[in-house]
Amino acid sequence: MSAQKVLNLSDLEQDTAVRVEVDGVPMAVVLDGEGVVHAIGDTCTHGDISLSDGFVEGDTLECWAHGSAFSLRTGRPLNLPAYEPVPVYEVTIDGDDVLIDPTVTKAVD
Ligand code: FES
Repeated sequence: MSAQKVLNLSDLEQDTAVRVEVDGVPMAVVLDGEGVVHAIGDTCTHGDISLSDGFVEGDTLECWAHGSAFSLRTGRPLNLPAYEPVPVYEVTIDGDDVLIDPTVTKAVD
């Protein structure tokens, strides 16, 4: 498996999450305020809620249901009720193409 094009960079709005599925893997893709594109698992670990329906705040994506904010860098929830992280995917930008490999998650410490 290799990285696949999932979006055009020019289609992303800053601080807005977009839901994509790559080989059946749901992800929330976010262009943050610093111009960095992140991709994290789209399903909140507290419930079956799409994180891309939530709110971007800095480098976090907050679940609208009960307010857990997940780090876009590490996938970790920064507050309860969620306590398990979501996966973080490696994003490659090639010109206007946003490429993601759904089988490769970034190692976070
Ligand atoms: S479903 Fe996301 S915090 Fe409860």
